[in-house]
Amino acid sequence: MKLAIGCDEAAYNLKAEIIKHLESKGVAVDDFGADKGEVVLYPDVAFKVAEAVADGKYERAILVCGTGLGMAMCANKVPGVRAAVCHDPFSTERSRKSNNAQIMCMGERVIGVELAKYLVDLWLTCDFSGGGSAPKVARIEELEAKYIKK
Ligand code: RB5
Repeated sequence: MKLAIGCDEAAYNLKAEIIKHLESKGVAVDDFGADKGEVVLYPDVAFKVAEAVADGKYERAILVCGTGLGMAMCANKVPGVRAAVCHDPFSTERSRKSNNAQIMCMGERVIGVELAKYLVDLWLTCDFSGGGSAPKVARIEELEAKYIKK
């Protein structure tokens, strides 16, 4: 699976730990920044990563900032993208199985590195369940289309 990752300056350390963790397991991940010591506006990173997902360049992505909230808000503005803040195992699992989220967001100021790594592993093993959730996710896309400016 092709994976992208991005952060702002509030979550550089968490991003670095996640990359190290994924690479140690043989999972390749493309880093969209920010680089160590670089100060960025989180929307710039979030939109870049979300666009790459919407364009089909990556199947899934991880975005981290101070809380995970700003990254999720931005990523969800890109049509076709479903980003979820995942700070506990249940939401992490449901974000994939029920919501088919392609982007997982976390906050370095909210959770510790070990929990984050555990949640990343969990998230990557969960697939969309389809079934009763399929028409709901399809409806997101239908309604979203109303707001896309021509
Ligand atoms: C820092 O810019 C902080 O506001 C940001 O990392 C994030 O928590 C926003 O949602």
